[in-house]
Amino acid sequence: MAGEEEKKRLFDFEQALKTRVVGRPNSGANEYLASIDSTNNRLAALAREGAPEGTTIIAREQTAGRGRLGRAWVSAPDSGLYLSTLLRPTKNISELPVITLCLGVAVKRAVQAVTGLELGLKWVNDLIYNGRKAGGILVELPVGGKTSETGRFSRALVIGIGINIKHPPGTLPEEIAEKAIYLEDALGDGTTIDTIELAAELCYQIESIYERIEADDQAILLDEWRAASVTLGKEIKTSSGDLEGTALDIDESGALLVKTRDGAGTRLLRAGEISIRSQDGSYS
Ligand code: BTN
Repeated sequence: MAGEEEKKRLFDFEQALKTRVVGRPNSGANEYLASIDSTNNRLAALAREGAPEGTTIIAREQTAGRGRLGRAWVSAPDSGLYLSTLLRPTKNISELPVITLCLGVAVKRAVQAVTGLELGLKWVNDLIYNGRKAGGILVELPVGGKTSETGRFSRALVIGIGINIKHPPGTLPEEIAEKAIYLEDALGDGTTIDTIELAAELCYQIESIYERIEADDQAILLDEWRAASVTLGKEIKTSSGDLEGTALDIDESGALLVKTRDGAGTRLLRAGEISIRSQDGSYS
């Protein structure tokens, strides 16, 4: 669904791009939609049809936005940036955590450039401000669909990014009200954030980290992640409850190295979700 307003937004977005690949499929393949179930669903469908790398879908609203681990991502109209972009890496995609961590660095850089706000990064995909979630990343591998002669169509990564910008009118569900923060509230000075400018800057930063990943040169990005981390050095536990301890570091695959509380040594956490212990002993 794209009316006159969305056509104008798409034009403004493409004008604002400083990229060569991300957001630049050179085929009129980008979409700026008034409403969609999920930009990741839409892009996965296009990817299966062979959409070119860089194809980018932005929606003003998602009616079934998805987060990690099957959670809903609340996507009220004009309250956030809901963006999905398609990458087709030439390398084998074996380690999703490291890509997610590097994308966290890209989102942090973009938000800093456009708003001046410094987000923290929580393993593995959370963007945090003042202990609350300002955004998240959902990387998915669409299954099935066309395969090109070179097999490259099968290597599709749908990168979904949600950033909370403007508090929606009315009250939020309690669980979200407690945990989420909107960037304009974080600024707290009445400043309006330009979603299109943020989208274009995000594409630029995604392209910058993607070039490094493709060149196998992501160590510096992982150092940037470490420097912005709100996880390392903290006591953590997994949502599944099978591991408690201190987060020591990330390895080159993006896995989290945890010193176990029972003193049995260290363990590498490759997937799942963690909570961080606060000073009052609660976990969030
Ligand atoms: C998370 O924190 O669990 C990830 C949230 C990812 C949300 C974005 S919004 C754009 C894209 N479309 C979706 O349905 N999800 C991602």
